[in-house]
Formats: sequence, structure tokens, C-alpha cells
Amino acid sequence: MFITFEGIDGAGKSSHIKTVADAVSNLGLEVVLTREPGGTALGESLRALALNEPMDSLTEALVMFASRREHIKRVIEPALNRGAVVISDRFTDSTFAYQGGGRGFPLETLSALERMVQKLDSGEVLQPDLTFWFRLDPDVAARRLVGARDPDKFESMQRDFFEKVSQGYQARMNQAPSRFAVVDAAASIEEVRSQVAALIASRVLVALPSLRREANRPPV
Ligand code: TYD
Repeated sequence: MFITFEGIDGAGKSSHIKTVADAVSNLGLEVVLTREPGGTALGESLRALALNEPMDSLTEALVMFASRREHIKRVIEPALNRGAVVISDRFTDSTFAYQGGGRGFPLETLSALERMVQKLDSGEVLQPDLTFWFRLDPDVAARRLVGARDPDKFESMQRDFFEKVSQGYQARMNQAPSRFAVVDAAASIEEVRSQVAALIASRVLVALPSLRREANRPPV
């Protein structure tokens, strides 16, 4: 199973990722916890460039997808093949939201890159099985980010950029609604925690017993 976490900067997703990882690993399954851009040594170098260096918007999209290709081939695909559950802090929905929505980069180009970069050895195009979208009003996010230490290139963008990023996420969800689990990230931390717990029960744990049987089946 491949699970991703998405949301604008300030939505507070990071603290909840570990909760999901712990719930899965308590079932005795291997969990691979990772992030984008990043997830490999090369990907982390690309991350440092993408988050800090000004660049042309096609260059930025290509850097995100270059990092993603390494991530898929070296980490995600092998992990899924051995029956692990992969949990990634951001994936391609971020590219559609930030480079597509935020920067206004053409979505057809992103879709073409997505099909090329996410092709697995089986020929299938990798997509997450489940995406937690921490949905938050950009004004609330901006208030949360005020005073954040050392904002990176994206965190220092203005409110209307994040409004467009949010619209980018919404458009992406409209195309594949059943893949998304929406979390109301404006709620208190306790409320968000209980929303996440309910979604773990209804969207993650129910899908895992069959996976666990497959992981334990001896190779033929
Ligand atoms: P994140 O890991 O959430 O940062 P932090 O550790 O500071 O919380 O996000 C990295 C930034 O990269 C975030 O602003 C979104 C951006 N990003 C893109 O613009 N496109 C992408 O494809 C990805 C994966 C991230």
C-alpha cells in the first residue's frame, strides 16, 4: 500500500504522519517512511536546490520529477514489491498543486511527465492508494507560518500563491476523489488527531489484512 500526505505549508501534516506509520507497524508490517522532494541521497541534494534556489518553472518541475524518479526506482518500487507499506510526505499532487496551480505551469506537461516518471517495471503508472489531504484556508496557514524560522522559497510566498496551490489540490482531488481522505486542518490539534485516527481505521486498517496475508505468503 502506498500512502501520501499533502497540504499547503503550515497545514501541520508532518506531526500526524508518524501516527499512521505507528498504526501500520503495530500490525507487524514493514513501514517505509519517506518524503519528497528527497527520499534518496540524490533526491535530498535536489531538494536543497529546489527549496532554496530561484529557477525557471520548467526547471523546477523537472527537478521535482527527477527527484521522484530516483525515489520510485530506488525506494518506493522495491519496497512495494516486498510487501512494505510506503508512506510519503508529499508526492505528485504537490507538483500539480505548487508548480501547476501555484506557478501556473501547464498541467498537460505535468501529466506527460507523471506518466513517464511513474511507470513501474510492470508497465503500471504508480499512484498512491490513499492520500491524506490536510486542507487549510491559506489565511490560517499564513498566520501559522508567521515567525517561522528561516522560511524556504515556497514558505515565503504570498497568500494568493497558496490560494492557487489549494485550488490545484482541489482540482486534483476532483479527478480521483476516491483516492483522497480530507482532514480539516483548521481544527485543534486534538480534533485533527481524532480525524486522523478515524481515517486510519476506515481507510488504512481495513485495507491491510489482505496485504498482510500477501506479505507473509512464501515466495513461489
Ligand atoms: P515540506 O516537506 O512540507 O517542507 P517542510 O519540511 O519545510 O515542512 O515541503 C517542501 C516544499 O516543496 C513545500 O513547500 C512544497 C514544495 N514542493 C513542490 O513545490 N513541488 C513538489 O512536487 C513537491 C514534492 C514539493
